[in-house]
Amino acid sequence: MGGLKGRDLLSLADLSSDEMKELLDLAAQLKAGTIRPRAEIEGRAPVLGLLFYKASTRTRVSFSTAMYHLGGQVLDLPLHATQVSRGEPLVDTARVLDRYLDILAIRTFDQQDLKVFADYAKVPVINALTDLEHPCQILADLQTIQETFGALSGLTLTYLGDGNNVAHSLLLGCALVGMNIRIAAPEGFQCDRAIVEQASAISARRNSEGTAAGKSEILLTSDPVEAVTGSHVLYTDVWASMGQEDLAESRIPVFQPYQVNDDLLHHADNEAIVLHCLPAHRGEEITDAVMEGAHSKVWDQAENRMHAQKALLASLLGAI
Ligand code: CP
Ligand code: NVA
Repeated sequence: MGGLKGRDLLSLADLSSDEMKELLDLAAQLKAGTIRPRAEIEGRAPVLGLLFYKASTRTRVSFSTAMYHLGGQVLDLPLHATQVSRGEPLVDTARVLDRYLDILAIRTFDQQDLKVFADYAKVPVINALTDLEHPCQILADLQTIQETFGALSGLTLTYLGDGNNVAHSLLLGCALVGMNIRIAAPEGFQCDRAIVEQASAISARRNSEGTAAGKSEILLTSDPVEAVTGSHVLYTDVWASMGQEDLAESRIPVFQPYQVNDDLLHHADNEAIVLHCLPAHRGEEITDAVMEGAHSKVWDQAENRMHAQKALLASLLGAI
C-alpha cells in the first residue's frame, strides 16, 4: 500500500480500483487480526486531528479507536473550540495545524473547504463527510458487502432516498469495484450530475478493461420497485441530512414511497442485505422491523468503520 502514503482522501474518486481493492483486503485482514501494524513517525506516535463542524458518533469514535490501535494519538477539534468558529481563515488554520499534526480528518459542509486544507497542509487530509461525499463510510460499506457475499463485482446495490453525500460516494465506490448501482430518488432529489458523470466514466473505463464478472451499470430512477427488484444490497440514509433539519418535516410525504420496509424488501434478492450508514430515523427511511430483521447488516457495517479507517490510516501514514 506504499502508493497511498502521504496522500489525501477527499473523494473516493481519488482512489484507483486497485487501491480500493487493496484497502478492502487490508481492512479484512485487520478485522481478522492476521496483521497488527504499528504507525510510527520518527520514533514517536503519530497524531490524528479530528476537525469536525458537524455532530458525529461513529466517525469520531471509529477514527479514534483505529488510531489508538495503531499506536497513534488523537486530538478532538470540534469547530466551536477552534478559532475557525471566530472567523480565522482556513488557509491560516490549515498551515498551522500542518505544523502540529501528522494526519487530519475533517467533517464539514463545503467540499471546497476540504480542498483548501488539502492545498495548504502537507499532511494527509481525509474527508470525514462533506455535503458532497462520505468516502470513509463507503469503504466500510464495501467491506461489509464483501464479507457477506465473498466478492463485489457483479452484485447490484440499490440506494433509496435522497441523492446525498452517501449516495454520491456509493456511486463512485460501486463504479470502482465493478458493482451495479441503482439510485431510486424522488424527482428533484437525484444525485449531482457531475458525480454521476464521474461514476459513469469510472464504470466505462473499468468495463472496457473487461472483467470476468461482466459490466457494471448505473441506473437512476424514481421508481423504488424497479430499483429494488433482484437487488443484492438495499441501502438507505436519512431523508434530510445535517444542515437540512428545517426541511425534514416537509420531505416525509415526498420520500415515503422510498421507505425500506418488508414490502419493498420482498422485491429484492432472497439473500439481500440491508445497510444504513446510521444514524437512522426509524419509521421514516427504514422500519424497525427491517433494521432489526434477518437481512440487516447495520451493526457489522458500523463496526467496519473502524477496520476500514484503520486500513486507510495505516496506508496514508505508511505503516503498511
Ligand atoms: N455514519 C456516520 O458517519 O455516522 P456519524 O455521523 O455518527 O459519524
Ligand atoms: N447524509 C447524512 C449522513 C450522516 C452520516 C448527513 O450528511 O447527515
